[in-house]
Amino acid sequence: MRIKKRGLFGILLLTLAFVLAACGGGSESTGGGSDSDSKESKNSGKSGLKDTYTVASDTSFVPFEFKENGEYVGFDIELINAIADEVGFEIKLETTNFDGIIPGLQTGSFDIAIAGITITDDRKKTVDFSDPYYDAGLRIGVSVDNKDINGIEDLKGKTVATRLGSTSADYIKKNIEGAEASQFEQLDQVYLAVENGSADAVLYDSPNVAYYIQTKGEDSLKLVGELYQAEQYGIAFAKGQDELVSKVNEALATLKENGKYDDIYEKWFGEKPE
Ligand code: ARG
Repeated sequence: MRIKKRGLFGILLLTLAFVLAACGGGSESTGGGSDSDSKESKNSGKSGLKDTYTVASDTSFVPFEFKENGEYVGFDIELINAIADEVGFEIKLETTNFDGIIPGLQTGSFDIAIAGITITDDRKKTVDFSDPYYDAGLRIGVSVDNKDINGIEDLKGKTVATRLGSTSADYIKKNIEGAEASQFEQLDQVYLAVENGSADAVLYDSPNVAYYIQTKGEDSLKLVGELYQAEQYGIAFAKGQDELVSKVNEALATLKENGKYDDIYEKWFGEKPE
């Protein structure tokens, strides 16, 4: 009887040891698998992340986001796609006028937004931001034959065109005496206003003014003055998605390390970042 019992106990122990060993082996191989960089394995056990996020961007902001042959392309579009691949989620892209982006994040219409959005303390009250992904500033563009405006001090009392809800609109109101900020919903209206003489100058994001003048606006506009008000762009998030924000920051750091960020940058700005 005693021997029998011991025998049974032994078998139980052996079984238990076997099961434990099998489990151990199993988790070891899973651990090994997650070292490979497939999307699925990165997000296995990802907890709170969704498979698809709604990403808002602007309708037109060269060279960050704009439509080409019916498709949205640009630096922001490629960067957010690279980040999504890295973290392991799909993107549902929605485009809207710039001034609708932050309200859309607040009401929950969008989860994420990438649109050359400057990180400001004021905006941080209503949305969260990733780490900065691009250094910008403001620049002035005037008509090619304008000889009077050569810098920010010459904008006093002038009509300055810019985009509705942008940091440059705030800048004009706060820093340029007597200037009228003529704010447009769409970017082509901003440049058109200077081209047709209804505004004296444009003050807007440096990479956008420079890019426009190098391309479409080559014969009509020129850059004057220097870079005003350094700004940094961040990816914006509806509040309450801390895990997603930290995964996106990790992905951004990885892309900067592995050279993919530099490749995308060079493609759209013609040079590597400094
Ligand atoms: N960076 C400026 C801001 O955040 C202008 C917005 C530029 N982006 C755009 N997609 N229009 O106010």
